[in-house]
Amino acid sequence: MKNRFSRIGFILAAAGSAVGLGNIWKFPYVTGEYGGGAFVIVYLLAIAFIGLTVFLGEALIGQNSQANVSTSFIETSKSKNEKWKFAGFMIATALLILSFYSVVLGWILSYVFTSFTALPTDPKIAGDAFNTLITKDLSTQLLYHTLIAGTVIFIVLKGVKEGIEKINLILMPMLGLILGGLLLYAISLDSFSQAVSFMFAADWSKVNSDALLAALGQAFFTLSLGVGTILTYSASLPKEVNFVKSSVMVAIVDTTIALVAGLIIFSFLFEAGAPSAAGPGLVFISLPVVFSGWGILGQVIAISFFIALIFAGITSAVSMIEPSLMFFIERYKMTRKKATILCGSIFYLLGIVALLSMSASFGESLTFFGKNAFDWMDFTTSSVMMPSAAIVICIFLGYYVDKDMLQERFTKHTPLFVFKIWYFLIRYLVPVAISILFLHKLGLI
Ligand code: PFF
Repeated sequence: MKNRFSRIGFILAAAGSAVGLGNIWKFPYVTGEYGGGAFVIVYLLAIAFIGLTVFLGEALIGQNSQANVSTSFIETSKSKNEKWKFAGFMIATALLILSFYSVVLGWILSYVFTSFTALPTDPKIAGDAFNTLITKDLSTQLLYHTLIAGTVIFIVLKGVKEGIEKINLILMPMLGLILGGLLLYAISLDSFSQAVSFMFAADWSKVNSDALLAALGQAFFTLSLGVGTILTYSASLPKEVNFVKSSVMVAIVDTTIALVAGLIIFSFLFEAGAPSAAGPGLVFISLPVVFSGWGILGQVIAISFFIALIFAGITSAVSMIEPSLMFFIERYKMTRKKATILCGSIFYLLGIVALLSMSASFGESLTFFGKNAFDWMDFTTSSVMMPSAAIVICIFLGYYVDKDMLQERFTKHTPLFVFKIWYFLIRYLVPVAISILFLHKLGLI
């Protein structure tokens, strides 16, 4: 039991994985693009009925077999069929996401440092600075990507309990404190009520099929689903712990933080009269300009904000490498050190490819069929690999696992109707919803 999470350690680590750039960077800008309130409602429904269903499924498989992704599928299946080892493909998704996630975290780290000196005073300057960083300043990007990758490798080398659990025990409360402070400041602004109505007053005219699909995709990404992360963390969760309650708590923490981040960011933007639909550049271009208008206080807020993003991102990043480590350690009997060096080198080098592919000098040679390597990694992971894995998980649990065993696992902790609802969702609603998302994203429907 040495390398096992405690119950609270698991909740914090799984919440640490879930809460990341997806909550603080992506959720607000996607909400901004789809016009606010109505999108938020769709997103909340996607989390409650689809995300949570798959989350519970991954947690159950992991906790049940206490093993790496491949072995877990084999052991949980009715037939114990060795072919289920191929479900282990999802660990590659996590590693691929980590490659470009580390690059983006590197940009954020560079913003922490530039916030100490001077913030851009208008959107043109801010946009130019961001573009220069990405397309021209290769050495800065490489330095920060290396720092982030090194930190992730250093933490996971120490193991589940001493590395991952400990870093989450420290960073998650600190993240909560920083966001709490920023929220209090946002509440004190006149624009707070405007942010509340933007986020919670539904304007259904903006909700088209793209918005529905974006909400579903975001629900998966934000809960770290379909990449074996939740499954792997749950494999270190003692068998007697109530996985249903723990999963619900993680989903609640994750959702609360996304909503709080949205309220903070929109209050700040509206206070300065900046637009809400600024796309991915929202936190890199629009926000720094807002902060620069607030003098020294703005600088303190900017530094706190980017540090919060780093904390949230690091706890997610360590969770992306762990499924591969557990796989190589258990199935290929590697030492943790060897597995970390192997997987660490893979994501670090792929990160460099992603980074170079956006540069002015190497971009062209790293662009294939109109998309650069960075965009390909993002596209294949979130539009192809994550939804495919989520469908595999649903079909597996719904049709290839003993129903009595599943029912027994649930009813140990919850009334029978909870199992019945979950079983219906995982067999029918969720796979159909994900298939639609999948086919639409690939342009097939
Ligand atoms: N949930 C993380 C976020 O919202 O930023 C992203 C993520 C973490 C995706 C871990 C996949 C993963 F395995």
